[in-house]
Amino acid sequence: MASFFSKFKEQPHADDLPKGKVISFLNQKGGVGKTTMAYNTAFALAEEGHKVLCLDLDPQANLSLLFDAEKTGETHIHHLLINSIRELKALHVGSLVDDVLIKDKGVDLLPAGQELSGFELSVAGINSPRQLILKTFLEKNDLLKRYDYIIVDCPPTLGLLVVNILCASQGVMIPFKADEFSRKGLAHFYDVLGDVSEMGITRAPDVLAHIPNMVDLRRKQESKDLKVITEEREHALTVDPFFNRAQLVKSQAQKKSVFSYKSKEYLPLQKRFSGLAGIITKWNEQYEH
Ligand SMILES: Nc1ncnc2c1ncn2[C@@H]1O[C@H](COP(=O)(O)OP(=O)(O)OP(=O)(O)O)[C@@H](O)[C@H]1O
Ligand SMILES: [Mg+2]
Repeated sequence: MASFFSKFKEQPHADDLPKGKVISFLNQKGGVGKTTMAYNTAFALAEEGHKVLCLDLDPQANLSLLFDAEKTGETHIHHLLINSIRELKALHVGSLVDDVLIKDKGVDLLPAGQELSGFELSVAGINSPRQLILKTFLEKNDLLKRYDYIIVDCPPTLGLLVVNILCASQGVMIPFKADEFSRKGLAHFYDVLGDVSEMGITRAPDVLAHIPNMVDLRRKQESKDLKVITEEREHALTVDPFFNRAQLVKSQAQKKSVFSYKSKEYLPLQKRFSGLAGIITKWNEQYEH
C-alpha cells in the first residue's frame, strides 16, 4: 500500500510541468525582418490572451529599442546568462531576472545590450555544455512555467549564441527575402539544424514557417526565386509573402506594434500577424512532449 502511495506521489502535478514554448525568429542573413516579425507576432499572441516574454538575444538590441529598453552599460540578458554559470562566479553581478525584466508593455522583455557580443568569448573556457546555457537558464528561472510563449529575436549569425537558441527552442520561424543569397543562407541554416539534431543533446526544434518578407512580385526575378525557395523547402510551410508596407516602418518608428492602431490601414497587417500567431498556437496544441 505504501509503495502505491509513494508511486502516486512521484507523478509530477500538471501545474509543475513547464507549459511554455520557446519560438525563435531566425535567419543568419541580416535585415530580413526577424525583429519586425518577432515583435509583432509576440503582440499578436498577447492579443489572444497568452502570457508572452520576448528575449532579445541580438547584441544590436533592436528589439529592446522597440520596447524603449536598450540596456548598454546596464544589466541585461548577457549578465543573467553569465550569472547562471556557476564556473563563472568571478563575473557574476547582483541582479536577478525580475530586476532586469521589463513588464509594463503587455508583452514582457528581457533586453539585450552590446556586451552580448562578448558572450562566446566569456564562455569559451567553461567545462559545462556551452550549447545549453540558454536552455538551463530558462529552466533554472522557471521561465517556461511563467510564460506561455517565449519569443526570441536572434542575431544575424550562426555562432554559439544561435546554437544555444536552437537548443532551447521548440519551434523556429524563418523570415527571408526572396533572393539567391537567402536560398544559400537557408541551406546553410538547415545544415546547422542538422548538426544540432546530430549532437543528440536536445530535441531539434520544429520549423513552423518560412516567411517571405518585403517581397515585390512585380520583380520577375524575385517571383522566380520565391518559387524556387518554396519548392526546395516544401517540407515546411511557406506562408503568403509579406509585402513592403509603410505601416510597418511607421509603427516601428513610433515603437508600437501594429496592434496599437485602430485605423483600418493596419487591419491587413494585424490579420497577417494574428495568422502567424495562429500557426504557433495550432502547432502547440498538437505538440507532443
Ligand atoms: N514588410 C516590411 N515592409 C516594410 N519594411 C519592413 C518590412 N519588414 C521589415 N521592414 C524593415 O526592414 C528593416 C529590417 O527589418 P528587421 O530589423 O526586422 O530585420 P532583421 O532581420 O531583424 O535585421 P538584423 O539581422 O539586422 O537583426 C527594418 O527597418 C524594418 O522596419
Ligand atoms: Mg533584428
